Amino acid sequence: MDSLLIKGGVPLHGEVTISGAKNAVLPIMAATLLTSEPCVIHRVPNLSDVKFMGRILESLGARVSFEDGTVRVQVRKLRGVGAYNLIRKMRGSVCIMGPLLGRLKEATVSLPGGCIIGARPINLHLKGFAALGAKVTIESGYVRVSARRLRGREMFLGGRAGSTVLGTANVMMAATLAEGVTIIESAACEPEVVDLANFLNAMGAKITGVGSPTVTVTGVKELHGAEHEVIPDRIEAATYAIAAAATNGEVTILGARADHMHAVLDKLHEAGVKVERRGSALTVRRGGRLKSVDVTTLPYAGFPTDVQAQMMTLMALTPGISIITERIFESRFMHVSELARLGADIEIEGPSAIVKGGRPLSGAPVMASDLRASAALVIAGLAARGTTQVNRVYHLDRGYENIDCKLRRLGARIERVKES
Ligand code: EPU
Repeated sequence: MDSLLIKGGVPLHGEVTISGAKNAVLPIMAATLLTSEPCVIHRVPNLSDVKFMGRILESLGARVSFEDGTVRVQVRKLRGVGAYNLIRKMRGSVCIMGPLLGRLKEATVSLPGGCIIGARPINLHLKGFAALGAKVTIESGYVRVSARRLRGREMFLGGRAGSTVLGTANVMMAATLAEGVTIIESAACEPEVVDLANFLNAMGAKITGVGSPTVTVTGVKELHGAEHEVIPDRIEAATYAIAAAATNGEVTILGARADHMHAVLDKLHEAGVKVERRGSALTVRRGGRLKSVDVTTLPYAGFPTDVQAQMMTLMALTPGISIITERIFESRFMHVSELARLGADIEIEGPSAIVKGGRPLSGAPVMASDLRASAALVIAGLAARGTTQVNRVYHLDRGYENIDCKLRRLGARIERVKES
């Protein structure tokens, strides 16, 4: 397994261009299953999760090509059974269910398990499919949804932690080919859901209200091929912004959508980080001494859970006490014990982490546990004195395109060490 070797203490300087959003492109690739015509998707990041989704689509009968940031997919003949071994490896692949149900009126996929950040049930996805008239059965590790016909209905998809991103995406996709009108209440408002709806509408779907908690889908008979450019990755942009502040550097982030990042930019401002906006360019630097701030993760437009770990690193470097509360996933604090190896003083109390910031961090070997925890450890390594080795880089390769190259261009001393 590859690792990253980081010699810390160098402020980041320069420009970095943001890639397409992983969490938008995965459901958009799944949506291509809804038509037999060719689809073309641009600004697709070169990530292991994207390649993996390509393999899943191929296993369902698709022809997939990926070149220079463009994915082409055509699914003339669609199979309704997702291969157990592929699907169980990537939780995001659960979003093939909606398109399979929409086009074939049946889907059989392996039940995605929990993961390191929490239990991750799919009860709300299944509730939505059932509301459309599908029968749901679970047997031998597979979940099967099937219907003679899908009928639009009003439904409530809110859950324990608020809305569900992939649940909304899944039900919205199935509903595009249902008869009549589907109204999803407590729908996820994330920009990635809006991007998916824009793609579906370009395919001929009739979806309104996206970006609000009430989404209306008027079913159509069939969808056609479409071409689409994926939105920039707001989580990647936030990660580089925090890295700039953590290393006391100055970084201009190109191609970002600041309008998707209000909660993060507002928190950074409160923490004393200066962000100047010029169109789609954001220049980030410290505006003086950093201040500790409290953070609570929430569904969009709240502070994203996918930036919680990175923000915790920044707070570990900031004198004062910061309380970081995780409201979306129950065990998304795996980075805490690894940050402690670098000298951070963080205590977990229920859903909150109490960060006593300002202690100098010093490099150490650390273990990445999930994608965003890994990003937090990389930022900590960049800011720490000495050398940090971040093991299990495959987590980062799932969601950050060329992270080591992008950071090197910003002046970081970071090397990928291949396992011999
Ligand atoms: N939930 C349920 N029942 C469901 C579905 C979700 O109780 O049927 C709960 C979850 O357990 C969690 C909360 O609802 O407590 C929110 O989960 P959600 O369904 O919104 O998460 P997701 O759609 O599975 C996507 C992203 C995650 C991101 C979350 C929250 C993709 C591929 N994944 O997951 O991204 O953290 O939304 O914004 O889009 C990441 O990129 O590192 C990542 C984990």
